[in-house]
Amino acid sequence: MRYQTVIGNDIDVAISYLEGDALVGLPTETVYGLAANAFSEKAVASVFAVKQRPANNPLIVHVDRIAEVKQLVQEMPEMAEALLEHFAPGPITVLLKKNALLPPNVTAGRFEVAIRIPSHPQTLELLRRIDFPLVMPSANLHTTISPTHPQHVLKNFYGAIPYILDGGPCEVGLESTIVGFDPDGVPVIYRQGAITEEEIRLVTGAVRVKGMPAGVTLPGSAPLHYAPRTRTFLVSASTAVETAVPHRTGVLSFKNYHPGIPQANQFILSNRGDLREAARNLYRGLHHLDEQNFDLIIAEECPPQGLGRIINERLRRAAHPEPLRIA
Ligand code: TXA
Ligand code: MG
Repeated sequence: MRYQTVIGNDIDVAISYLEGDALVGLPTETVYGLAANAFSEKAVASVFAVKQRPANNPLIVHVDRIAEVKQLVQEMPEMAEALLEHFAPGPITVLLKKNALLPPNVTAGRFEVAIRIPSHPQTLELLRRIDFPLVMPSANLHTTISPTHPQHVLKNFYGAIPYILDGGPCEVGLESTIVGFDPDGVPVIYRQGAITEEEIRLVTGAVRVKGMPAGVTLPGSAPLHYAPRTRTFLVSASTAVETAVPHRTGVLSFKNYHPGIPQANQFILSNRGDLREAARNLYRGLHHLDEQNFDLIIAEECPPQGLGRIINERLRRAAHPEPLRIA
């Protein structure tokens, strides 16, 4: 099915498409999502198809309140509830044992389901008005840069979806943190994200950090994820990039322009050196530089504290695995 994709502000229009099993781009505080009715096996299947996502990579379910999380799972561990009470609505995703309400393709056949309560006001309002949960992977094609503006969603899915709800630029700009629970009840971070390990520890005491459970294709298990089409290299903050590059080069830098490279070719994440602002601008900067058709993009690491570590992890996955050779 081909559509004339519309970007608009009408929650009711978005709802009517979702009720008809169509896919809609929706804003969240983290990144834009590609939404579908999570109770419809057919709508869920079309998310995998449209996103070109491998069938073994499960989707996050989105609801508007904790009581609804409980309806979809066998039990709510104490620590999961504590995390939701503290951070939801917001960028925390909990991984819990599912019951039979959700169709198996939501979780790619796995017995655990990832669920979150997004805080973007329009999407929260939409979720309150519908009587089904939504699956929402990030609204980008598999392995490409995540979307933080409606235009990014349009770039990926023009013609493939009927509607994108315009919620402006995403406030946070990094995906949610995914937390599961070991049999001893201790929370386990499976994907680092907008809520840092330190913030989680303040609520739960102990926390472990692991990769995704075996068998799940996670962001970054493929060599490239969040990746621009332009070859991108990650360099440390102290690298003098102007001596490195004879090419038309785009630069993504944390705070300062690099001398010797036209400022028009550079994207500054936060000129006041604020990591929250840098996170908010990260994917927009990558999209912007990628659209300029440079010969290469050089991305500079952020200070490795708090969100800076998460930004650097995303950049590492966006970048070419080989270091840039400086002549
Ligand atoms: O911030 C976010 O979480 C955004 C917004 C749109 O809500 N969504 C998002 O979805 O990042 P996606 O599909 O791009 O990434 C979800 C990640 C994938 O790595 C997937 O493997 C993992 O979550 N995941 C989802 N369900 C899972 C499950 N049942 N078990 C293990 N991992 C799961
Ligand atoms: Mg994604």
